[in-house]
This record gives sequence, structure tokens and C-alpha cells, in this order.
Amino acid sequence: MTVMRRDGEMASRIYNFNPGPAALPLSVLEEVKEEFLDFKGSGMSVAEVSHRSALFEGVLNDAVTRLQRLLKLPENFKVLFLQGGASTQFSMVPMNLIPPGSSADYINTGTWATKAIKEIEILKKPFSVIASSEDRNFCYIPKNFIVSPGAAYLHFTSNNTIKGTQWATFPNAGSIPLVSDMSSDILSRPFDPIPFGLIYAGAQKNLGPAGVTLVIIREDMLARAPKDIPTMFRYTTHAEKNSLYNTPPCIAIYMVQLVLKWIEENMGGLDAMERLNLQKAELLYSLIDNTDFYTGTADSDSRSKMNITFRLPDENLEKKFVAEASTNGMDGLKGHRSVGGCRASIYNAVGIDAVRVLVDFMKEFSRKNG
Ligand SMILES: Cc1ncc(COP(=O)(O)O)c(C=O)c1O
Repeated sequence: MTVMRRDGEMASRIYNFNPGPAALPLSVLEEVKEEFLDFKGSGMSVAEVSHRSALFEGVLNDAVTRLQRLLKLPENFKVLFLQGGASTQFSMVPMNLIPPGSSADYINTGTWATKAIKEIEILKKPFSVIASSEDRNFCYIPKNFIVSPGAAYLHFTSNNTIKGTQWATFPNAGSIPLVSDMSSDILSRPFDPIPFGLIYAGAQKNLGPAGVTLVIIREDMLARAPKDIPTMFRYTTHAEKNSLYNTPPCIAIYMVQLVLKWIEENMGGLDAMERLNLQKAELLYSLIDNTDFYTGTADSDSRSKMNITFRLPDENLEKKFVAEASTNGMDGLKGHRSVGGCRASIYNAVGIDAVRVLVDFMKEFSRKNG
């Protein structure tokens, strides 16, 4: 597609349905480009300024404040920017948050939850898997489960990027703190942060580029960490130093700050973001539901608004679909290598125009190949 840049010139872009790294708002990319050689009149690139300079701290603190505002975080929640991806959180969470004599609860809804469970197993910390949707290849979100009384926390993955399922409402664990991997749906909708002890998200889907991981932690959870955790793996290390204990991924944090500004100032905040995301998902699901050619892989009450997973009548047609979509300017529609099929990832930065183009292409493809 050809798009108008901020400077009035035209740029050639494709419709990006990649699962992560994923589409970023064009205006953010342009802002980065414009400021790249001379960041805020400093005569340096943001990649060159000291992370301890007032300039960079301004970026970091603005990102924190915007997140607090967008997510309506109470004051006792700390916002941290860490490294190592969401995958490092699979082990940092159990290392830090299970007091002696206590055990954690996990709900297994697919690949990423399974990986989180594998890490607590390696660490030999006590845990129970209180619910799983593995019996039907993770195509649904479990409904009936009992949270263990006194559990240290209940861990769940809010959106299952690979299987295309999402928690429509979060589990109710009473006073047991929720811990959630929100890598693939953070900031796609508003939610109540109060029941959460910790939230983590790799940036590369809804927040910015890869290289930084957002962690939001309730202050009382910080005190739980045993004394023998190596420095970099302790949340307190990063909380006490405002994420500046060591050199942070400055460019990634800067881009996250711009994405947050875009959500607040261009998109109208999380309520508006959610309305748009619902509209986008609805366009695709209603097409899928109204044809025999495409079949959704997730149960309807568990469907993700971010990753729309579907199958075609056979694998050859799926290959042809992905290839023809690519020729028509749409990228990233191949399902995850572990599950096959097709997947359209429609994160915040994927516009409704892109979804409309995909829907038209899908209609035409099924007409020609059905
Ligand atoms: C839900 C979820 N959790 C965790 C990860 C892993 O994130 P990272 O690559 O940042 O470790 C992903 C990556 O796609 C994901 O979708």
C-alpha cells in the first residue's frame, strides 16, 4: 500500500499481520526517524545519549507516567522496564514471588503457559496446575477451576498468541494475587489492575520493538523475594533503581514511550482502543463464521481479539493463501510453525483499513478456490 507520510511524501508499506515483532504505528516510526540523528536538540541520537542523562530519564519517566495513566494503576504499583523478554519472567516470577512453605497455581492455556510451567518445574518450586485446556489442543479458556487456598499467586496467560484464545474476563482468585503474561494483549483493552500482584509483557506486539519487557509489580510483592536470588533476577534491584540498575535498552524504551503517547493522544486511550479492536476482530470472525471455507480454531467464547487463528480446507490451500496474500501486500498470515494453519495478528497498530483489505482478499480467495 502507498501511504502519506507526515512530511506529505508517499511511502510504500505493506499490511503487517505478523505475530511479533509486529506492526508499529506509522506516525511513531516517522517520529523515530525524524529524531534519530538529533534527539531533542542534543546533537546525539537517542542511541548515543547516556541512560543517566536528564534527557533519557525524561523519556523513561514519561513512559512510566503514561502507563500508570493508561492502566489506571494505583500508587502501590511499580512499573519496570527489564530485559530478557517475557521468557525470562517465566523464571523470575517463581524465583521472587513464592515465600517459603507456599505454592503457586498455574492455568495452562497453551505454548507460553506451558513454558512458564516448565520454568517453575526446573526451579523445583512447589506448584499446581489447577486447570488446563490441553485436552482439546488448547482451543478454549478453562472455566471451572478451584484456586488453591493460600496459593502464592495464580499465573495465567491473558492472550494465547499461538492458539488464538483470550481470557474475556480474568480469573477470580479472591485475595490471591493474579500474575499474568499479557505479552500479546496488554493495552488492547482496559482492565481492573487491583487483583494483580504482577503483570509482564514482552514489548514486541502491542508496546513497541523487541528488547524490553514491561513488568508491573505491586509493592508488597517485592518483599517476598528470598535472599539468595542473583542481583539481576531480583525485582527489588530494578524497582529501587527505577529500571536503571544497569544500562537499559534505551531505544526500545524510547519507542515504547512514543507508542504510549500515540495510544493516549491519537487513539483516545484504552476504551477507544478496545472498541476499535472489537470492531476489527468482529470483521474477521463474522467472515469466518459465514463461510464453510474458513474454520476458526478457537471456541467462540474463547476467541482472541488479537490473534485470529483459522484453517482452510487443506494445507495446500493454506500455503497458496499465504503466498497470494503476500503478493497482494499482506504479510505474516502463516500460523505458528507448531500448529500450522493461518493466523492474522491484529494488534493495536494494525488499522481497520488493513483488516478490511484482508477480509476482501479472503472473500475473493474463497470464491476462487472454494
Ligand atoms: C503470550 C506470550 N508470552 C511470551 C512470549 C515470549 O516472549 P519473548 O520472546 O519476549 O520472551 C510470547 C512471544 O510471542 C508470547 O506471545
